[in-house]
Amino acid sequence: MKGLIFGPPGAGKGTQGLLLEERLHIPVISTGQIFRDAISSGSSEALQLKEIIASGQLVPDEVVINIAIDRISQSDCKSGFILDGFPRTIQQAKVASESGVRFDFILELVLDSDEIVRRISGRRFHPASGRTYHISDRPPKNPGLDDLTHEPLICRDDDSMDSVLKRIKIYEDITKPILDFYTSQKNDFTLEHIKVGGLGGVDAVHASILEKMRQCQIIS
Ligand code: AP5
Ligand code: MG
Repeated sequence: MKGLIFGPPGAGKGTQGLLLEERLHIPVISTGQIFRDAISSGSSEALQLKEIIASGQLVPDEVVINIAIDRISQSDCKSGFILDGFPRTIQQAKVASESGVRFDFILELVLDSDEIVRRISGRRFHPASGRTYHISDRPPKNPGLDDLTHEPLICRDDDSMDSVLKRIKIYEDITKPILDFYTSQKNDFTLEHIKVGGLGGVDAVHASILEKMRQCQIIS
């Protein structure tokens, strides 16, 4: 099974991705998380990306494409994967497609800008695992600490208001159009386009996703 979780910043891609990973036993690969891991490891190449990401811009296609395709070719992806945040430009989608990357489904999470801003401004994040909390909607058991490791939670560098507004605009102008690339009849492949409203609690959204996946016979 190969899928893509698609949606604006803060729509819940990472949150729902981790739940799908547990449910489906296939890795969920987030290019954003790959970059954050690289930045915290302190490599010189990654540090150049830190500023780009913090300001809400996209990392250049040639950098992302190589990293994503290399990651998908690793052995844990043999029986499937779900991508979170790649592809994000038409060029990325085209090169991925030329490299043989096919999806059985695209899961599109839909959320309006006001709710995106509200969610991201309350987000707290465990850098090592990618586990994400929200100060009021999904609080950790102990304030400021990850539930499993008890390590401190942080705010992401790219969660400033300026950066969030820029990311929403980039999503609308550059990323959303790639839905047409995938759903267009001109392609030599077909996939299920599953659209789910991101409003409602995490568990309710997860249940809606599973229900729609059953209806499309992606899961039984
Ligand atoms: P990335 O890490 O992918 O960020 P994003 O797409 O902006 O999305 P977020 O991670 O902010 O949101 P999310 O949808 O995962 O929501 P979450 O589950 O956290 O990318 C970061 C950057 O890396 C990019 O801006 C770019 O610079 C670079 N990059 C990555 N991929 C790239 C590519 N392909 N090309 C170029 N550059 C690339 O949830 C958000 C909050 O809401 C949390 O607090 C959560 O607890 C809460 N929440 C979630 N669901 C619910 C719910 N149902 N009810 C209430 N609260 C909820
Ligand atoms: Mg995310």
